[in-house]
Amino acid sequence: MDSRLKKFVDKIKDKPLRKKVTEIIENPTIEIEGKVYSGLSLEASPAGMSRHHSYPGGFIEHVVATTEIALNLCNIIERIYYGKVDKDLVISGAILHDIFKPLMYRVKENGSYGATPLAERLDHLTLIVSELVRKGLPLNLIHIVCAHHGGEVGPIWPRTVEALVCHLADATDSRLDGEVLRAARYLSREATGEELYRLTSKEAFEIVHSKVVEGWDGVKKTVEKIKQKRFSTEF
Ligand SMILES: [Fe+2]
Ligand SMILES: [Fe+2]
Repeated sequence: MDSRLKKFVDKIKDKPLRKKVTEIIENPTIEIEGKVYSGLSLEASPAGMSRHHSYPGGFIEHVVATTEIALNLCNIIERIYYGKVDKDLVISGAILHDIFKPLMYRVKENGSYGATPLAERLDHLTLIVSELVRKGLPLNLIHIVCAHHGGEVGPIWPRTVEALVCHLADATDSRLDGEVLRAARYLSREATGEELYRLTSKEAFEIVHSKVVEGWDGVKKTVEKIKQKRFSTEF
């Protein structure tokens, strides 16, 4: 298991729950009509095709960031509001909330992402909910996954503090990443006339920062630096 995920999984106190979460992370596949569907590796997968974390490695970064935000929200609930929150459920929910996203994407010949045949029939949320039911995970954990998109675009609004925490953490990280990627794409396009292919969050933050510090010249320099770095690692 990726060490960044393991760090959180190790914090799950309930042993049977930790075991089940571990099994799913180590083998994120689903069987339908006797056919086992697997996808990109968790390490290689993006977490979106274009809106957020749309680059190799984006999936793990999104899951780690979501879990980190969720745990910070738990601390606020406990220390500032003196509320109760089940951290085992929050950690498990945050880690598993998008676990079948890697089954949704395929790498096309030109290197961009497209939808898999499975993604054309079922979305990641439905798939994960089904698998968690099949594997006998707790109802309150299944609810977290089911409610993670919120009730406007998802099937149900969060009805527990744990589900609300995971929904807010997911929305915050998706928005944070999506906005910075969008800004960096715009800056790069305006400054150089072209967009960087599969811009990573790290690169996007660099571009946005360079605009603040050095203006459009900074953007040009940073985009050029990123292109050269990519060229030297590719060859
Ligand atoms: Fe999702
Ligand atoms: Fe997500």
